Amino acid sequence: MSSKSIPRDVALLDPAKLPQHVAMIMDGNGRWAKKRLLNRIQGHEKGADTVRAVVEACREIGIPYLTLFAFSTENWQRPQREVDALMTLLKKFLEDEREELQKNGIRLTVIGETTRLPQNVRQSIDEVVAATAVNDKLRLILALSYGGRAEIVRMARELATAVADGQLRPDQIDHDRVARSLYTPDIPDPDILVRTSGEMRISNFLLWQIAYAELYFTPTLWPDFGKEEFCQILHDYQQRDRRYGKVDPV
Ligand code: IPE
Ligand code: IPE
Ligand code: MG
Repeated sequence: MSSKSIPRDVALLDPAKLPQHVAMIMDGNGRWAKKRLLNRIQGHEKGADTVRAVVEACREIGIPYLTLFAFSTENWQRPQREVDALMTLLKKFLEDEREELQKNGIRLTVIGETTRLPQNVRQSIDEVVAATAVNDKLRLILALSYGGRAEIVRMARELATAVADGQLRPDQIDHDRVARSLYTPDIPDPDILVRTSGEMRISNFLLWQIAYAELYFTPTLWPDFGKEEFCQILHDYQQRDRRYGKVDPV
């Protein structure tokens, strides 16, 4: 595809074929920093600007759900200094963005093992989640201390407990019941999952929910990612034929 045929503008997207839910694995902050002889934390700081740009793009384009993978259960194993810096950055991001989210009708939801987050970060999350609860222009879902397997284990325990308590029969457990016991009971499954930085793996993100998501991997490092590439990805998505195992009608 020549660069000329790539849409540079939101207006070129087909509004009838937009994804309802975009999920993103924001990867490559460390490598972005390393290339510039900066420290990894500076890469994460620059990455926060991309978060703002992508949130704004979703709002502008009219995509109602955006999930961003910001910190995984595995990321707790990084050096304490980096974990601490990420938590500080997260708290600052929530405080800085609170007004902007409110102004733009954006509702914040957090999924993951939030009890593992520092108390001051949890407090900021609770405040912003409560303050934005009635907003309905865009649902921004931040995956924090999130792991897909941990989410599935949690669901299994919840259902097993309900069965053991006599509130649920095993034959009542179906797709719907499982989905309702995940972190995302009221959120449609992602239509597309984007990962930056060239890694072609899922890294324990939304394992159940991405069953039929379109996958898109870009070599761009997260701090270099922006609205223009986001539009190109949406354009690519709109050309795809989502068959769900069926055959196209002739
Ligand atoms: C993504 O960037 C941000 C987090 C996982 C918190 P990385 O920090 O993983 O950056 P790379 O992969 O080392 O370049
Ligand atoms: C995935 O990125 C997690 C987030 C983007 C928050 P990682 O950098 O942690 O994943 P791996 O280590 O490359 O699988
Ligand atoms: Mg990484």
